[in-house]
Amino acid sequence: MLSYRHSFHAGNFADVLKHLVLINILEHLNTKDKPFCCIDTHAGAGDYSLDGDYAQKNREFDNGIGRLWSLDTLPEAVSDYVKVIKAFNQTDKLTIYPGSPLIIQHYLRQQDHLFAHELHPTEIEFLQLAIKRDRRITLQHTDGLKNTLGLLPPKANRGLVLIDPSYEIKSDYDTVVESLFKFYKRFAHGTYALWYPVVDRTRNDQLEIAIKESSLKNVQLYELGIKPDTLEHGMTASGMIVINPPWKLTEQLRNTLPYLADTLGTDGKGHYRIETLVAE
Ligand SMILES: C[S@@+](CC[C@H](N)C(=O)[O-])C[C@H]1O[C@@H](n2cnc3c(N)ncnc32)[C@H](O)[C@@H]1O
Repeated sequence: MLSYRHSFHAGNFADVLKHLVLINILEHLNTKDKPFCCIDTHAGAGDYSLDGDYAQKNREFDNGIGRLWSLDTLPEAVSDYVKVIKAFNQTDKLTIYPGSPLIIQHYLRQQDHLFAHELHPTEIEFLQLAIKRDRRITLQHTDGLKNTLGLLPPKANRGLVLIDPSYEIKSDYDTVVESLFKFYKRFAHGTYALWYPVVDRTRNDQLEIAIKESSLKNVQLYELGIKPDTLEHGMTASGMIVINPPWKLTEQLRNTLPYLADTLGTDGKGHYRIETLVAE
């Protein structure tokens, strides 16, 4: 049973890093005229009202996009990210937060395509409303990990697979890595971005070992934490594991993650990691 709803978390510190990395990859794909294909395995509801009951419950966005929204001087990658979020808001007030499929839609040109998957029956309805009619986008009310294998390699032969599960059950960690290995076998030069939470560090350690011992090449890890690891309940950090990242991404994050750790960290306890899990 799916119970996760991203509207409780939209725009939080984890979304900041995830969507900042996503935007950097999309901007890189846009540097060539050749078409690209994006596959979003776990798309969510599309956009989120930050004035709504769900977002207001814990106001997680206050310690994410909310903190960056009105700052004048930002590192380049953060500024690019905030500009995109501002494009979805009609006024200076932050009320709407776009999810990954809308951010991707923002970057699609006529020649590009997005396949977005969402399994939750309510979220897929919201997603349809948010995307509206767009012949460049195929929405799939189906299991994104199972369906993606059949879409690879994409016709355009360049692009991104974004894998952003909610990790509701422990076995999700294994399923995600097994799927990633299968995808890579079919489309080894594609870019893959896998989001992960840090809730219990031992699971992250296992995930990283599995990747290091695999046949994947050119794998980078970028992580942002707002509190030290703990055995208590709750997410303290999150990260993106990117296979075949754009060449500028690591350099940009070296200028960006220290800033985000300082700005979003709780009581000066923010931290970050940038690591090469597997070399090129
Ligand atoms: C973390 S949210 C996605 C957020 C979105 N990617 C974003 O960045 O805005 C994960 C979503 O995946 C959906 N989901 C869970 N398992 C799925 C599956 N096997 N296939 C497709 N969607 C799934 C959940 O209903 C939830 O809406």
